[in-house]
Formats: sequence, structure tokens, C-alpha cells
Amino acid sequence: MTLPLQNSPFGAGTQKYWERRHSLFSKWDEGVLSDEEGLYSVKPEAFALEIAQTLSGSLVLDAFCGIGGSAIGFARRGKRVVSVDCDANRLRMAKRNAELYGVADKIDFAHGDILALYDSLCAAHDFDALHIDPPWGGPDYYLKPSFGWSDFSPNPLPLIKKALQARLNVAVGLPANFAQEELQKIPGKVRITEARDQTRVLFSTAYIAQ
Ligand SMILES: C[S@@+](CC[C@H](N)C(=O)[O-])C[C@H]1O[C@@H](n2cnc3c(N)ncnc32)[C@H](O)[C@@H]1O
Repeated sequence: MTLPLQNSPFGAGTQKYWERRHSLFSKWDEGVLSDEEGLYSVKPEAFALEIAQTLSGSLVLDAFCGIGGSAIGFARRGKRVVSVDCDANRLRMAKRNAELYGVADKIDFAHGDILALYDSLCAAHDFDALHIDPPWGGPDYYLKPSFGWSDFSPNPLPLIKKALQARLNVAVGLPANFAQEELQKIPGKVRITEARDQTRVLFSTAYIAQ
């Protein structure tokens, strides 16, 4: 019999995320695949489903796939998804995780830099919505007193502006320390929802439309 791992296989810095792994993916013990960045950056399952329910549109461009938490949420809510990541290994994990949830046939996985692929993907698909969940620069993001667009890597503001010009609905994941005044740089109507646990705001989602 194999006992479940008590300690994160990705090191002490990821222990708190490891302890939450079953809220990240309820099917974790059925063989969910992750690497270190995937573990600390995946959208927890319940929130991924909520965002998928809230973002209007049936064909979604998921610009930063990671290990697939968001993409799987969209697919489970009946949407079709094109999900992009520049890390081929993480993209393979996302595909496997989507298979575990029985939704891999609803997601096309594209490998590459979203900034380079965006125009050609939009020329090939009639997207209704863009989902943006860019890296926050690692687990120490919260040490910044305030977080702005240029602290993401890459800065997603140009993508947001392009998507709004094309009348796509947009959802962007924001850290809890994101500066409110940065929202004024968005040329559209913004609605913010907060994702909380028992004690604090975990992250926010900005829903944006023209
Ligand atoms: C915060 S994670 C996304 C998490 C994802 N929503 C999930 O639920 O699993 C950000 C991902 O963006 C990817 N990434 C970073 N820069 C990118 C770029 N220029 N183009 C495409 N993907 C990129 C990283 O490899 C990482 O997997």
C-alpha cells in the first residue's frame, strides 16, 4: 500500500499549496499531474467553476493554461476552450488533467507565447471571451506593497485592450494586493469579485466588457 505524501514533493516553499491539493483538484488522488509552478498557480476547482459560470460566451481563449485548472472549469461548464501555455511540459500535464475530468475533447491545447500567437488564434477562431491568468512572479508576490500591471510577467494590458476592441468579454485573475488605481487603465466596464477562504481574500477576478 502507498501512503499519501505528507510533504510537498516540490519543497517546503510549496507545503501550504500541497496541503490544499484536494481543493485545487478534487480528483487529485486519481492522478492529477503538476509541477512546482503548476501547484502554486493553479486556479482552485471551485473558483475555476465559478469564473467559468460568470464569464459570458461559449468559445473561450484561455491565454495562460498552466496545469489546466481554469480550462477544465470552462469545459465542465459546457464551453469550448483554446488554452495556451509557453511551457510544453505543463501543457501536457493540463491535457492529462483534462482527461481525468473527461473534458479533454472540449479543449484545444496550443504551445507557445500568447503574445506571439494571439492574432493568429483570433483569426482562426471566433472567440467570445478571453481568460487571462498570467504569472504573479512566484509565491512571494504578496510581499509587494501594491501590485500593478507591469508586475505580471508578461504584462497582460495590451491583450486586454485588443480583446476589448474586438468586443470580447474578458476575465483577469488579480492578486489580493492589486492596486485599485491600476484598474483605471482598462478602457471598459470593470466588475470585481473576490475569492475568499475563511480568513482572507485569496485573489480577485476582474470581469471586463466594453
Ligand atoms: C498562473 S499560471 C496559469 C494557471 C491556470 N489558470 C490554471 O488554473 O492552471 C500562468 C501560466 O502562464 C504561462 N505563461 C507565462 N508566460 C506565458 C506566455 N507569454 N505565453 C503563454 N503562457 C505563458 C506559465 O508557463 C504558467 O503555466
